[in-house]
Amino acid sequence: MPSQFLKNLKEQFELKPADCREIISAFSREMANGLAGRKSSLKMIPAYVDVPKGDERGRFIAVDLGGTNLRVLEIELSGRGRIKKLKEKKFVIDKKYTRVSADELFGFIAKKIKDLLRWQPIEAGFTFSFPVRQTAIASGVLAHWTKDFCAKGVVGKDVVKLLERALYRQGIYNLKITALVNDTVGTLVCRGYSDVHSDVGIILGTGTNACYREALAKIIKWRGTKPSGAKMIVNIEWGNFNKLTVSCYDRQLDRASENSGEQILEKMVGGMYLGEIVRLILVDLCKKDLIFDQRDTALFGRSKSFKSEYMSEIEADCTADLSRTKKILKYFGIKKCSFSQAALVKKVCELVAARAANISGSCLAAVIKRIDPALKKKHTVAIDGSVYEKHPVFSRQMRKALKTIFGQKAKKVQMVLTKDGSGVGAAIIAAVAAKAKKK
Ligand code: GLC
Repeated sequence: MPSQFLKNLKEQFELKPADCREIISAFSREMANGLAGRKSSLKMIPAYVDVPKGDERGRFIAVDLGGTNLRVLEIELSGRGRIKKLKEKKFVIDKKYTRVSADELFGFIAKKIKDLLRWQPIEAGFTFSFPVRQTAIASGVLAHWTKDFCAKGVVGKDVVKLLERALYRQGIYNLKITALVNDTVGTLVCRGYSDVHSDVGIILGTGTNACYREALAKIIKWRGTKPSGAKMIVNIEWGNFNKLTVSCYDRQLDRASENSGEQILEKMVGGMYLGEIVRLILVDLCKKDLIFDQRDTALFGRSKSFKSEYMSEIEADCTADLSRTKKILKYFGIKKCSFSQAALVKKVCELVAARAANISGSCLAAVIKRIDPALKKKHTVAIDGSVYEKHPVFSRQMRKALKTIFGQKAKKVQMVLTKDGSGVGAAIIAAVAAKAKKK
């Protein structure tokens, strides 16, 4: 019976308040362990930068390599939050570049930069949205790939050096990379340029991650001289959090992935994976003869064929006969679909997305509790990414989770969509670095 199946599924995917509290305490423990240099699934990487003062000025290039796109921008900062994009180019990263050699990947990036560059010397911020252990504001080594990237010869290398070398190979000598940035950090810094309450940055897109402002004194693992300032942004790399209860579908997805055993939270929340979880559940329903005829559903067998965007469309389907849902199912060869079958598909999508939003909300609550245990101050959480922006109920569900956890005080936490923060933030951090040099 589909109803029995659905009941089991709900048991696996619905998070009760007690489950959220458990996530919060496990996440808090892992954060503390990561900051102390003890074993932890959270890397807690110091970003060598704090939120900007807002008076940073000048023209900078921003290079932004995410999971899906590469963007190159020229940005003018005029202080007091005034930002002007002078130029912007966006390229979809062809799948082949995720598995080429380091020279080919960075050569591709350098070529795209060349197309936008003028002859004047200029400084740039490089947003490289992967787990990089930073050693300074403009250097850091890739710990491991995420988001299905596996280009060879990059892990263990300084990614700024790799980009600089590729720029020289292109004959570019007038561009200096002065800041290396994670996309979460760029997003927080971008919002922080005009909003003093900003203290958390989150990406909910192809992959997922968060960063926050931490007191330098609490970054216990820090060795050597402490930089000036009382706080520093820490890149949590929360996608790797592994203290979550997983379902059989999560295990299946993980086994088939490039990085099995890693990025467990990311595989339950990231847009790269949400659709795949839905697909695995639909395949299971088919195999158990609880939904469509197995012969009609050959396409469900194709891994990653069910895009997370379909989930958004299905969940936004308010038509009386669920015709938009049925139209999407037609792409999969399902010509005849009853209302109850379409409603079941919709329910599966809702459960998978709601779990992702509840996990994100709980982890955000753990971060807020760490910064401000009694929730006395206002907090702006800068968020970007396709899942947060495009999914019809994700942000609402996340807010609901915060309300369950914090009650009325949840009002103090403002979640703000900060579009393109990863690019703009890189330019702002390059400006922060330029200002520090002048001192
Ligand atoms: C992955 C990366 C992380 C990045 C996130 C969002 O989790 O490891 O560095 O911030 O994706 O793009």
